Parts: sequence; structure tokens; C-alpha cells
Amino acid sequence: MARPKNLTRRQFTFATTSATLVASSSSALVASSSALADATARGIHAQAATPSPAEPPVGAAAQSSAEVSATAPRRLEFPPNFLWGCATSAYQIEGAVTEDGRGPSIWDTFAHVPGKTFKGETGDIADDSYHRYKEDVLLLKNLGVAAYRFSISWPRIFPGGTGKANARGLAYYERLVDELLENGIAPYVTLFHWDLPQALPGGWRSRGTAQAFADYAGFMAKRLSDRVRHFMTINEFVCFTDLGYKIGLFAPGLKLPAAEVNQIRHHAVLAHGLAVQAIRANAPGGTQVGLAENAKVYVPVIETAEHIEAARRAFREENAAFLTAVMEGRYTDAYLAHAGADAPTVAAGDMAAIGSPLDFVGLNVYQPEYARAAETPGHGTSSPAGYVVEPRPSSFPHMASPWLFIGPEVIYWAIRHVTDLWNPAAIYITENGCPGQDLRDAAGHIEDTDRIMFLRNYLTQLQRAAAENYPVRGYFVWSLLDNFEWLDGFSKRFGLHYVDFKTLRRIPKLSAAWYREVIASNAVA
Ligand code: FCB
Repeated sequence: MARPKNLTRRQFTFATTSATLVASSSSALVASSSALADATARGIHAQAATPSPAEPPVGAAAQSSAEVSATAPRRLEFPPNFLWGCATSAYQIEGAVTEDGRGPSIWDTFAHVPGKTFKGETGDIADDSYHRYKEDVLLLKNLGVAAYRFSISWPRIFPGGTGKANARGLAYYERLVDELLENGIAPYVTLFHWDLPQALPGGWRSRGTAQAFADYAGFMAKRLSDRVRHFMTINEFVCFTDLGYKIGLFAPGLKLPAAEVNQIRHHAVLAHGLAVQAIRANAPGGTQVGLAENAKVYVPVIETAEHIEAARRAFREENAAFLTAVMEGRYTDAYLAHAGADAPTVAAGDMAAIGSPLDFVGLNVYQPEYARAAETPGHGTSSPAGYVVEPRPSSFPHMASPWLFIGPEVIYWAIRHVTDLWNPAAIYITENGCPGQDLRDAAGHIEDTDRIMFLRNYLTQLQRAAAENYPVRGYFVWSLLDNFEWLDGFSKRFGLHYVDFKTLRRIPKLSAAWYREVIASNAVA
């Protein structure tokens, strides 16, 4: 049940200066203010510097128009009502792991096994947001965000995974939601961000876990949907299936054979689908249901029709176990052929549940992959799949985590491939961000210019997608706060706010001030 394609309807409905804006936005790095300043310093007249009639140039008073054209960078505007937010997850920020009746999760167990995380660090205390949530809501308010994406810890609600709900755990999330709403911030709730109740027999190896998740999701929808309008079922399938059960780097740390891993993946997408149905059955009409998925995103090596087509094919096929299954309600022929005898056992009705229609697709976007057409003339290789994935040169630049390769255009192509393939009603970027060294200077400030560079360039490509009328409705920075970064413990800081893990004091980084400006102007420059 592939959704209708929508390859051509790209108009610019809100850009103030269509042609120039498109030209500048499609060459993101050239249009960024720093590049423009550089061009100006070299005496180059940048075309994008002509002020738009709708937008008075910054600091224009007392300047001639010639000076203005040399000093005012063009701002790339987002659509009205574009939703700006920040994201976190329960185990990474809450702490209070034994408080108010919370049961253990597989991440509590795993992080306490010596050698599994950086310096044996755990989420026992993390940012202590369980106690400091009011302070954290204030940080959000100071940024001016309209939305906060956080996750609910399943074992706080059902300490045994199923059975009797824990009223004190639920009460915490009710307090948090109420605090957000009182401050004019919309809660975007993720129901599963990897902290599976330890008590569930077999974890994701058991099909019963999919049903248990749906029951929990339905329960949360019933209790919160009077105040929460957006629910995400699951965060990033591959990180708790393959990383947890195939490679063993994440909880529960197993290395199982392919047939079992494929079955676990199936249970995960089934859990998502059953949860979508359970949320709809327990929430009023109009409740928006989606997921937050880190699909592998293929950027075309050159933006020509043949490479774009190849990148789209790569995107669909390389995400066959997860996002493609969810969006199409089927596994692709190539996925099943490749799995062969290791293909998952699929019960009647499973695929229809997995393909339950969504109100939005959430995409966690970090690093790019590159693909090109299989039959590039003179290139000498070909592939029946119609695409070739490019190996990454060892010189490819990355941020402070070695996996986080820098490719701002990935955010544009993520949105574009999803729309061109499945045409969802709405897309949110549910995570994007980077770690940095984040040292405090003598004055105690954190001048994270590297993070600003990263976010500015990714947002430029996000604006490109919005300007081309792709249905991207919002963006969440990962993350509001430095936090427990899984294997890396507290050694990788992703926050707009620095956390002193000794005192738990929060300090806004320079990037927080920068993001506040983006939000206030609804534009990136
Ligand atoms: C994503 C996770 C999130 C965080 C960021 C850096 O994969 O969803 O919890 O770890 O990466």
C-alpha cells in the first residue's frame, strides 16, 4: 500500500523573495552569514545581500544602501507557526531511578555492569530532572520554545512491565505536563526511548512485549490525552533492536543470530503499530500519533535526477525493516529475499497493524550517507537495486562523537525522501544536534561556536525543505541539557545548557542564546 507520490507540487507560499531566496537556500553554506561576511571582507558582492522589501535590514539606520548590501546577511525565514522545540529522554535526564515506586529498566541493569559505559557511569542521578523539572521548564521558557519532546519511563508507570499501574509514577508526568502547559509549552510525548521494564520476560525477544507496550501506550493515552495532543510511540528502532540484541553495545547487551534479530525487529515495529491503534482507541479524535525514527538517509552524490532517484531507492530499501515497513505495511521483496530463511515469522494481521496510518513522521537526523545511481556512465559498477552506497572517505569531517559526520544536507533529503515516497501529512525533525568540548572559560561561559556552526548549517537545509513546501512542521534540538549519553556516559555533551554533574547546576551555553534568536526571528541567518 504505497502512498501516492508527490514529486512535483513544490511552490513557494511564504518566501518573501522567492527566486533569490531559493537560490541562496539551495547553496546553504554560501548563504550563511559567516560565509557572506567572508565574501564581503574580500570585496565580493554577494547576490544574496540585497535586502528584501518585506524585511528591513538589521542595523540599517545611518547606512547607505550600498553599505547595507555589504553588511546585512539575508535571513532565511521559516513558515509562520513553525514549531521550535527541544528534546530529551527519561533515562538520560530524570535520575530518581528507585523513587516513587519506579521499577528497574534494562538500561539500569546494563549501565551497572562494569565496563559497559564510559567510566561505569549510569543514569541513577543523571540531571535529576525528576526533582528539577520546574527549573528545566523555565529553561525551555527562556529559550522561547513552543514545544518540549520528552519521554515517559515505562517502568515508572508499570514497574513490572504489565499489571497494576503505579499512581506515583503517573503523577510525576501529570505534574510535568501541567507545568509545561502553564508555561505555554506543548508537550510532545515519546512512549518508549529504550528503557524497557526489566521485568518483562525475554524483553524484545518476546512477542508479548509488543502487546504489553500497546497496553501501556493505551493507558498513557487515556490518562494524558486531555492535555497531550502529540504522541510518539517509539524512538529509533535500530538502537534497541540491532544495537541491543545483535551487536550488544546497548542494553540488554546480547549478540544473537540473524533470525532472532529479525524477529526482534518485527516485534518492535509490531509494538509501534499496536500502540498506534491503542492510542487512537483511548484518545479523543484529533490526537496526533507518530514515531521518532533515525532512518538512514541517503544524500544523492550530485543533485541530478538519476542520483536523486537512486538515493530515494536506497532510502526505501535500506530502511526496509523499520520505517518502510511502518509506512507501507509490508516488508520489501528485497528485504525478505535477503533474509531468506532468517525472515521473521509474521502472524495474520501483523502487517496491517504495523502499517497503521500516522498523523506525522518524526525524524531524528544526524549524519548523512551518500548514494549514487547504479549505472553512472563510465563509472564501471552497476547494481540490480538501482543504487550504490558510497563508502565514506576517512577524511570525512565529524563532530565530537566519531559517528556524527557533518552533512547539513541530510536534513533536507530526509524530509524530501519521506515526502516523495509516502507523502505524510506532517513531518517533524524530532532530534538534531551535536556534542562539543564545551569547556567553561575563565568567566564560566561555554562559547560553543562549533555547535552553532553545526546547527546553523543544518537549519539552513531545513529551511530549504520548508521553502520548497515540503510538509515539515517543526524541529526539536537534541538536547535541552547535557545528559547521560548511553555508552558515552556523561562524556558527550549535547545540551544547549551545560550541566555541572557535581552540583547539577544548569548554565546556558552560547548556543542557547543563538537558538533563542532563531526562535524569536523564526529565521536562520
Ligand atoms: C539519538 C538518541 C538520543 C541521543 C542522541 C545523541 O540516537 O535518540 O537519545 O542519544 O542520539
